[in-house]
Amino acid sequence: MTIIERTGRVVVNPATESGEERVEVQLRPQNLSQFIGQEKLKKNLRVFLAAAKERKEPLDHALFCAAPGLGKTTLANIIAKEMGANLRQTSGPVLDRVGDLAAILTSLSEGDVFFIDEIHRLSRSVEEALYPALEEFKLDIIVGQGPSAKTVKLPLPRFTLVGATTRSGLLTSPLRDRFGIVATLEFYDAAELAQIILRSAAILKVDIDPAAAAEVARRSRGTPRIANRLLRRIRDFAQIEKGRVTLAVAQKALAALEVDQAGLDRMDCLILLSIIEKFGGGPVGLDTIAVAVSEERETVEDVYEPFLIKSGFLARTPRGRVATPLAYAHFGKAVPAGAVPAGAVPAGGTPQSVAEELQFFDGPENGSQSS
Ligand SMILES: Nc1ncnc2c1ncn2[C@@H]1O[C@H](COP(=O)(O)OP(=O)(O)OP(=O)(O)O)[C@@H](O)[C@H]1O
Ligand SMILES: [Mg+2]
Repeated sequence: MTIIERTGRVVVNPATESGEERVEVQLRPQNLSQFIGQEKLKKNLRVFLAAAKERKEPLDHALFCAAPGLGKTTLANIIAKEMGANLRQTSGPVLDRVGDLAAILTSLSEGDVFFIDEIHRLSRSVEEALYPALEEFKLDIIVGQGPSAKTVKLPLPRFTLVGATTRSGLLTSPLRDRFGIVATLEFYDAAELAQIILRSAAILKVDIDPAAAAEVARRSRGTPRIANRLLRRIRDFAQIEKGRVTLAVAQKALAALEVDQAGLDRMDCLILLSIIEKFGGGPVGLDTIAVAVSEERETVEDVYEPFLIKSGFLARTPRGRVATPLAYAHFGKAVPAGAVPAGAVPAGGTPQSVAEELQFFDGPENGSQSS
């Protein structure tokens, strides 16, 4: 997630960046044609952008919902670039005072893109102050005190709010309803991730075999950020061995990085094995899982769970999380009789089918709607 710096009371773009983040910025697609995958969403966005430009109006407010690392911040940047506008960036938890919001909104220029990351974490008061700004580009300001206090409507420049959230379920419906464009980004398939890896490799000047790129893609949890991160680590291994990234080098590096055949990392395995070994396969509550693996509940829910559910290792039931037969098979364990409630679980498979399943993500296409 993005590091936000606070200067006085005004929240500004990240000024200092760690090495990781600098590379991430370097690898970030600059326009829609460089943005790989999410075809339906891109097609729609192209239309919305072209139409807004033709009308000489800012783009409608847009909300992007997706698991971490799927491209929400990238899209916010691309929208600003495509509209030829400035990007102002902050995040829900940082923007905790109405005064901060007012300071940003009144300093925007016509057409600017105002990006709020983790928008589900806005405070109530800031969210409510945002409503008139989104709807009529006005800010309600209370002038004076006591009985003589009155509300003044301060006009704002017309801007585009881009919201990003990993948890669309936590967004209030009044806020969600104020976005004209609402889109969910899906996990990427192996072919798209391989393209992303080859693009990043070209930028980083890493010599990588297509077979190695395909292998890394298959084990990147459907996530561009992870694909790029694995590529950078594997580059280190290849550099030490003074060679290009071949399939063998990639496989060796992935093993050293504790990324297994299905692309599950240490924490993924820890979560699944805890459910299987400590809680009889579930159902078990999220808080209990979080304690068992010594991780924050939110991290388990936002970062690990979506992919485990998507790839069929984990299921959510009203009574808690359940390890699926696929998870048992993955660890070479037999499903104990009665361990998994019927109907709670997607179709199981053998360990071999895990790889296939990851290669051919057949998830729903990117949903995107507009009004
Ligand atoms: N469609 C894509 N094509 C190419 N690269 C991508 C794509 N989507 C994301 N990336 C790469 O993945 C990295 C992470 O993407 P981004 O920062 O936009 O994710 P995010 O959804 O904002 O994550 P978070 O929820 O953690 O903020 C980017 O630096 C970019 O290089
Ligand atoms: Mg982001």
